[in-house]
Amino acid sequence: MSKDNAEDIILEIKNLKTHFTLDTGIIRAVDGVNLTISRGKTLGVIGESGCGKSVTAHSILRLTPSPPGEIVDGEILLHRDGEVIDITKLKPTAEAMRNIRGDDIGMIFQEPMTSFGPLHTIGDQIMETILIHQKAADKGEARGQAIELLRQVGIPNPEQRIDAYPHEFSGGMRQRAMIAMALCCSPTLLIADEPTTSLDVTIEAQILELLTDLQAETGMAIMLISHNLAVVSEMADDIAVMYLGKRVEFGTTDAIFDNPLHPYTQGLWRSIPSVDGPLEKLVPIPGVVPSPRDLPPGCVFAPRCSEFMPGVCDQLKPVPVIEAEPDHFVACYLYDNE
Ligand SMILES: Nc1ncnc2c1ncn2[C@@H]1O[C@H](COP(=O)(O)OP(=O)(O)OP(=O)(O)O)[C@@H](O)[C@H]1O
Ligand SMILES: [Mg+2]
Repeated sequence: MSKDNAEDIILEIKNLKTHFTLDTGIIRAVDGVNLTISRGKTLGVIGESGCGKSVTAHSILRLTPSPPGEIVDGEILLHRDGEVIDITKLKPTAEAMRNIRGDDIGMIFQEPMTSFGPLHTIGDQIMETILIHQKAADKGEARGQAIELLRQVGIPNPEQRIDAYPHEFSGGMRQRAMIAMALCCSPTLLIADEPTTSLDVTIEAQILELLTDLQAETGMAIMLISHNLAVVSEMADDIAVMYLGKRVEFGTTDAIFDNPLHPYTQGLWRSIPSVDGPLEKLVPIPGVVPSPRDLPPGCVFAPRCSEFMPGVCDQLKPVPVIEAEPDHFVACYLYDNE
């Protein structure tokens, strides 16, 4: 976490475990994740496909389908006005939870059409959210606010475009409308799950710039989930690296880029073209992410790790989490002096 005080923390996730119980076995999608997000800051969350990034995000908003999904352990602590609320203790359908969704935490979903149904206009759907959260006295006022929001996210002619249906928007415009929807209730934390994956490079840059501008204007914190390490390095203050449901490394963006410690993080770096360095040969991490159904004993990365130490990494002892330098944590036996 970047040099912040405890009072700057907005969300703390401690040892979160979200599992899916299927007939065929238990999927340990999130299996002991720790994260801290500070007010007004951006936390980047990276890791290969299937590492539990989206399940972590959905757990925060209690949107995991249950059954089969369940938070089986851990805490998600929301800090609001000096009060601390453990989200894992709330019923997903409780009013307190509905208030958190929207009022405190907004979300841009990875699946582009999750935010909007196809049958109603963009405006009607944004207005409905505004009215549910009682941010406007009547429909007229809600419409005015919706137009303002669409203008704020850069939709041209919002007075007319508000009456368009989602399919009438281009991908980039729909993404902007999704952001408007997520911002409806001025959240203190915005979760952006792969906000630009389906967009071309130019539109991607515009959307990221929009998020940065909105953050500067509103002071909201952002949890930015992305495959794109260049995007994360640009936007994030802190970075959490996830592998197979676990946070394997956590630190400031500078620390994680200048001094990656976990062999997984180092492998990720070797597998992407460097932004300004010479064109090096890219080395993909061997193998694929195994199924979270059969987690290996010891370190879950051991079967793919270039630094694998037989008898250490594949044993049952829990992987130590080491503070290698101030505020830079790594979960790896390599750094365990014992
Ligand atoms: N509803 C569900 N039922 C069973 N398993 C699920 C469910 N949702 C997610 N999973 C499993 O949980 C694991 C983590 O999935 P998640 O969507 O969080 O990955 P991710 O890191 O967001 O990947 P991506 O980068 O592809 O978006 C995967 O193995 C996935 O198959
Ligand atoms: Mg995902």
